[in-house]
Amino acid sequence: MQSFFICGGNKLMGELEVQTSKNAVLPILAGCILCDKDVVLHKFPKFEDTLTMLKILESLGARTYIYENDVKIECESITNHEIPVDLASKIRSSIFSLGAILSRFKKAKVPYPGGCAIGARPIDLHIKGLKQLGAKIIDKHGFLYCDGSNMKSGVVNIDFPSVGATENIILASVFLKGRTKIINCAKEPEIVDLANFLNSMGAKIHGAGDSIIEIEGVEKLDGGEYTPITDRIIAGTYILATLICGGDVTLKNINTEHIQSLMHNLKNNCCKMIVKGDTLRVVANKRPKAISKIETQPYPGFPTDLQPQIMSMLSIARGTSVVVENLFESRFKHVGELKKLGADILVNDKTAIIKGKSMLYGANVTCQDLRGGAGLVLAGLVAKGYTTVDDVFHIDRGYYHMEKDLQQLGANIERITKA
Ligand code: EPZ
Repeated sequence: MQSFFICGGNKLMGELEVQTSKNAVLPILAGCILCDKDVVLHKFPKFEDTLTMLKILESLGARTYIYENDVKIECESITNHEIPVDLASKIRSSIFSLGAILSRFKKAKVPYPGGCAIGARPIDLHIKGLKQLGAKIIDKHGFLYCDGSNMKSGVVNIDFPSVGATENIILASVFLKGRTKIINCAKEPEIVDLANFLNSMGAKIHGAGDSIIEIEGVEKLDGGEYTPITDRIIAGTYILATLICGGDVTLKNINTEHIQSLMHNLKNNCCKMIVKGDTLRVVANKRPKAISKIETQPYPGFPTDLQPQIMSMLSIARGTSVVVENLFESRFKHVGELKKLGADILVNDKTAIIKGKSMLYGANVTCQDLRGGAGLVLAGLVAKGYTTVDDVFHIDRGYYHMEKDLQQLGANIERITKA
């Protein structure tokens, strides 16, 4: 088992380049299934989840080659329409491939997806949306057997602005003759990036980033090169780490437009944030203040993927804060672990009340999911004494060697292997 061993108390100082976005690259990799020719993605992040998605493409017949920072995907050899269960069960984004496989083959056999255990993670909105386009889907023994031979363009209403369902329906609509209109779409920057990628390959997608997206069907997509956006959640994680530890950190290759909600909530909170083009300098030299209420919402609201990390900050803030988790029904699993470090948090259903403490104390804690694990690391960086964070494989799914990034900023953290 791999763990992080942390000695708390160091300030964070220095510069860091923000990695490419996991949640942009995953649907873009699914989009490669629609391409006839080779695709090269630059600054490819080698997270566990993106490597698993590459294996899914290989299971469909693609050949993939990882160079220094790039990956090349040979798409013309994609001939299989079934995803193996061992790969699909590892990541949520396997379900995004369904729409793409239906577009290419007009049929698909896809297992139920995996992903962080932060709730039931149903896929009813994906299925309802694809059925509104005429897909026939039989859900049997954990597999979806899909017949897309009668799919047609049309209007799709999504009951809730689901990120994955929006991406899936876009991918299923690219080749449908005529115009498809998707209503009540998610507006996340990763959806805009998927549309930009597909349009750069020849698709005609309009309105990504708004709640209504229109797709004009095209015959085929070529291939080409693309550089996905950087990861707003990783950026937010390190901004919060700087507030928790104190220090002076400059993040490079960041799009501050994508983290407006976090920056709004941190304004006047014992830190200075100086934006210069695609860099953000965070200077924090006082104990953070409590925030009366943080409610997670679909974009552009406060991101659920930063909820555990800001909870760690609020655990040492001056005063009492409230965090409401509206997106996932069991995304407070890190609370029990934070309490082992001395945090004072009371949870009632989807609301957590956090009484800030002047000090947390090192302990042995265990990651329960990706972003909860990142939150535990941030708390360990400020806790007095030694903290071990176990099961960091969760963190490796969405941060490439998080410990190296934090070491570069002066944190006393190392990756260890426990028997
Ligand atoms: C994406 O998951 C992200 N994952 C998640 O990031 C992120 O937390 C989430 O969007 C919300 O922003 C990827 O992009 C790979 P949703 P997704 O569909 O698409 C409900 C991380 O840490 N829902 O927007 O699965 C669902 O239960 C991960 O990087 C249905 O009810 O999220 C949830 O309550 C964690 N039926 C809400 O919608 C469905 O068919 C939002 O989920 C689909 C979703």
